[in-house]
Amino acid sequence: MRFHVGSDHGGVMLLDVLVAELAQWGLPVLSRSGPAVASERVDYPNIAVQVCQRVLQDRQGQAADVFGLLVCGTGQGMAMTANKIPGIRAGVVADVFSAQMVRAHNNANVLCLGERVTGVGLAKLLLRGFIDATFEGGRHLNRVELIGSLTRPVGEGS
Ligand code: RB5
Repeated sequence: MRFHVGSDHGGVMLLDVLVAELAQWGLPVLSRSGPAVASERVDYPNIAVQVCQRVLQDRQGQAADVFGLLVCGTGQGMAMTANKIPGIRAGVVADVFSAQMVRAHNNANVLCLGERVTGVGLAKLLLRGFIDATFEGGRHLNRVELIGSLTRPVGEGS
């Protein structure tokens, strides 16, 4: 699994930790968007869009192992923005079961976390749970396609 990652100022420190964790796990970070320091304030929607566009571009090139990781203060703004983008399924999670299920049942391709609500140790477990889970397909496939039908441009197939 490979990641495009990004944060706003509210997520820089947690993202630093998670990028280091990904390196330890041998999982490549393809790009990072957002400030390098928390004192540089940015608007999280711009970061979310940049990261999601990179994820989609790689996935359209058949790189199904490319995912997005977005961190802001709560994860919520990143997820709200990401889910506006056709083809992106983003979930903000704060428990390990949801981190697994958001992939297993919802086929998420972007994970959103909140630095101000999730401790570092838990955040590492959440990321690991997301990474280790796989989409179960089956009865969940149609449901995920129903989600996609809400943002798909008119006339575009599945
Ligand atoms: C920035 O202060 C904060 O609003 C942002 O990081 C995030 O929590 C938004 O959802």
